[in-house]
Amino acid sequence: MLKEKVEQILNKQITKEAFSSQLYLAMASWAEKNGYNGSANYLYRQSDEERMHMLKLFRYVNDRGGHAIVDTLDKPELEFTSISEIFTKVYKHECFITESINECVEVCINEKDYTTNQFLQWYVAEQVEEESNAQTVIDKLNLLGNEKARLYLFDRDMENFTVNSGE
Ligand code: FEO
Repeated sequence: MLKEKVEQILNKQITKEAFSSQLYLAMASWAEKNGYNGSANYLYRQSDEERMHMLKLFRYVNDRGGHAIVDTLDKPELEFTSISEIFTKVYKHECFITESINECVEVCINEKDYTTNQFLQWYVAEQVEEESNAQTVIDKLNLLGNEKARLYLFDRDMENFTVNSGE
């Protein structure tokens, strides 16, 4: 049975993962509308990935006798000025999620819930991957600069950039 504090923080994390999925969906939509189809496809895959992160936590909470819920989601940002802005925001958002996972781990340790702590280690490792992927995309963009022809090549490259499935 999950302790109340652990259940509460896991439900907050569920809501953050659900928000991440909506945020990346909004980014995918902007990218698609502005001709960045490779980046859009990458962001659609990333959005699916976030839903998987949410569901994995969701099922865990219920399996351990808690009640998993997704709280009201904030409306994600819908408009962006460039593809660079999008990926800079992806990176910042992933850093925020990493901190949030670390807070979940801290609560588990304080509450002596070592089972949930162990379960969360999958997310700890996943966040290393998530931050690294976002940083790689930003590095690509910085290398290429803002010229349209180069952004076109960047976008074609994004079509094949793999989203870590976490499996
Ligand atoms: Fe679920 Fe991208 O962190």
